[in-house]
Amino acid sequence: MRLLRRPRRLRATPAIRSLVRETHLLPKHFVYPIFVGDLTNHAEPIPSMPGIYRHSLHSLLQHAELARSYGLLALAVFPCIAPSQKDHIGSFAFSDQNILFAALRSLRQNFPDTVLIADVALDPYTSHGHDGILTEDGRDVDNDKTVEALCKLAILEAEAGATWVAPSDMMDGRIHQIRSALDEAGFEHVGILSYAAKFCSAYYGPFRDAVGSKIGNSAVSKATYQLDPANAREAKLEVSLDIEEGADLVMIKPAGPYLDIISSISQVSQIPVCAYQVSGEYSQIHAAAQNGWLELRSARNESLIAIKRAGADIIFSYFALDWAKDFCQS
Ligand code: PBG
Repeated sequence: MRLLRRPRRLRATPAIRSLVRETHLLPKHFVYPIFVGDLTNHAEPIPSMPGIYRHSLHSLLQHAELARSYGLLALAVFPCIAPSQKDHIGSFAFSDQNILFAALRSLRQNFPDTVLIADVALDPYTSHGHDGILTEDGRDVDNDKTVEALCKLAILEAEAGATWVAPSDMMDGRIHQIRSALDEAGFEHVGILSYAAKFCSAYYGPFRDAVGSKIGNSAVSKATYQLDPANAREAKLEVSLDIEEGADLVMIKPAGPYLDIISSISQVSQIPVCAYQVSGEYSQIHAAAQNGWLELRSARNESLIAIKRAGADIIFSYFALDWAKDFCQS
């Protein structure tokens, strides 16, 4: 058969495929999310997230060292707070006993160059699991009161050594307020990575196991602040508001089910676009692999390259450490 175009010619060998590959992933493209709990010396496995641990301050440092040795430049630190320390307004967030601050301080001291990212939200600290403070009648999350609390938390995180604070709460107007609060407190060098388009997703389940933030018997749904999975136009609105309000980077979350959003935002955004491959995306690949239904490494790699190909500059992923280890050893 005479064919002018035979695309298979460029797929013939690994070397040719490598030369013509369009999308590349490097360890520097990743942020590794890491959990820290108030444990004395050991790390505790999280059953619904194989290979992921709640770290003690000690094992956190060892793990951070490992991450750095594989070329990972950034960590997102999440606290696991004991149920006895939670209340309806998340007071423990502002306590000097909050393990997050100790973790940030010690990471900052031991790894001066590592980019440290701290979530700004109240869900690890509230007894009801919402990202903010409820209104008096308990029927809604009080937007403006929550934003005030977030500003306080952002300043404490900046003081403890966060490079970027990352509001993940989806309240209105919080980027502007947090920017002003940081500037006023002398933290104009601290950046804001906004969870700008955070969808109301079932894929956060294992994360809520990890930090114990499952929503209990609440009259309020997270759908009153997180985006409807059906809405792409509204995601653009959220992103443009956060950029106008002063975000330094924006995030789309989850990643895999929202590649269309990542793609459309990355084509127009003038600031870096992050994507969060969330806990459920991680755990479902592991679960299928444990059953022998998917091959772990290739499913992992495909899920990650797809997010990069869609246009994400930076990927938050629980696979970051294993991926970077394989990368360094290949
Ligand atoms: C909380 C927060 C969530 C995640 C990151 N920050 C969960 C939520 O909104 O319940 C989820 C991350 C994951 O699932 O890996 N503000």
